[in-house]
Amino acid sequence: MGSRIAIIGTGYVGLTTGACFAHLGHHVVCADIDRARIERLSNGILPIYEPGLQEIVEAGIASGHLRFVVGAAAAAKDCEFAYLCVQTPQGDDGAADLTYLQQAAAEIASVLPAHAVVVNKSTVPVGSTKVVERVLGRHDVSVVSNPEFLREGSAVSDFLKPDRVVIGSDDPSAATRVADLYSTTSTHLIVTDPASAETIKYAANAFLATKISFVNAVAAVCEAVGADVNDVVLGLGYDKRIGHEFLRPGPGWGGSCFPKDTRAMVKIAEDAGYDFNLLKGVVVVNDEQRERMVAKVERAVGGNLDGAVVAAWGLTFKANTDDLRESPAIAIITELIARGAIVKAYDPQVKSHPTITVGADAYEVCDGADALVVLTEWDEFRWLDLAEAKRRLRGSSIVDTRNLLDRSAAIRLGFSYQGVGR
Ligand code: UDX
Repeated sequence: MGSRIAIIGTGYVGLTTGACFAHLGHHVVCADIDRARIERLSNGILPIYEPGLQEIVEAGIASGHLRFVVGAAAAAKDCEFAYLCVQTPQGDDGAADLTYLQQAAAEIASVLPAHAVVVNKSTVPVGSTKVVERVLGRHDVSVVSNPEFLREGSAVSDFLKPDRVVIGSDDPSAATRVADLYSTTSTHLIVTDPASAETIKYAANAFLATKISFVNAVAAVCEAVGADVNDVVLGLGYDKRIGHEFLRPGPGWGGSCFPKDTRAMVKIAEDAGYDFNLLKGVVVVNDEQRERMVAKVERAVGGNLDGAVVAAWGLTFKANTDDLRESPAIAIITELIARGAIVKAYDPQVKSHPTITVGADAYEVCDGADALVVLTEWDEFRWLDLAEAKRRLRGSSIVDTRNLLDRSAAIRLGFSYQGVGR
């Protein structure tokens, strides 16, 4: 049993989608143009760190449900479903660049079996389903939009226990067939037209980014009026209409999705004649948030970053990933260095970086530093011995951009502590 699924692109989304479909009992062939990557994957060596993914990839290979091949055509030639999971990078004008998507579609066009369904999983602008249809030029093949909502760090459980599955198609029977792939996940199913499905994806990410920028702006107000944002958020969150999720103040949102998708949605709206001022403001607040964190570090080292030594805990854009794309930590450290600071960083998943000095352990990077800055919310940072960090530091300042550490404990140890919004 199970369907024959081709996955085109073994990046973050493609690999998770392929491995999870194999786990659900489908027969999956994942394709990539990168031969070395395919060889490693065939041997169970993953290019990314994602909790739970290694195990289901290994199980899929062992059971024969998951295979890796070079080239989209090789994977698509006898599939029932071809998932396009290629990257859609941000182009110069902010819009998503569809080159890879079009190339992938062109490559599989002539080999797809009759009645196959091509599924857009990549985050693509409204109208892309039509673009793929045109490139394929096949009247016996349907194209469906099925956006992903996978968070790095919990992508496997997000896939296997989704909040909802969104399917956009003008062909009801193709939509039903795609919905059946998820039948064992028993979740809310939204079947709609392609433009609505594509808009849901952008609107979801834009809304989540808005929540974070909102709470970061509230944090700035809290600092100005002497309120504590942690308590403010608690008071907001119990209102069921608001909720607790995605209201953690921090150094601003980053990663492979929010920065790209917010800008793309501003551009999509602009091209369609709507000036999305709200979302533009969300992006501005996010950029300001990074500058606000740099200013905190500047204060923490006594007002002048030139020559100051800074220990940084965290490099990834959030915890439980090794992904550095659009990481606020990297942006903040880069700015500190540009302003003359000497920064040494520690991250549980990142052991080297082309422009940032990375130390082997969290305490070592504190040696002789004027201030300690927490940039990523790795749980293990919570449990580190602050007394040991204090012994190694030259100064006694902590800037906790994630409100992660125990503030009272830090103050008791003699640290001067700056969090966000408190
Ligand atoms: C996101 C979406 O959540 C996912 O549904 C989509 O498909 C891809 O983009 P991801 O980029 O993995 O997932 O990260 P997410 O957990 O959403 O966090 C994004 C950024 O927001 C991170 O930089 C994170 O640190 C920050 N964040 C998140 C906050 O600052 N505060 C919060 O309360 C939540």
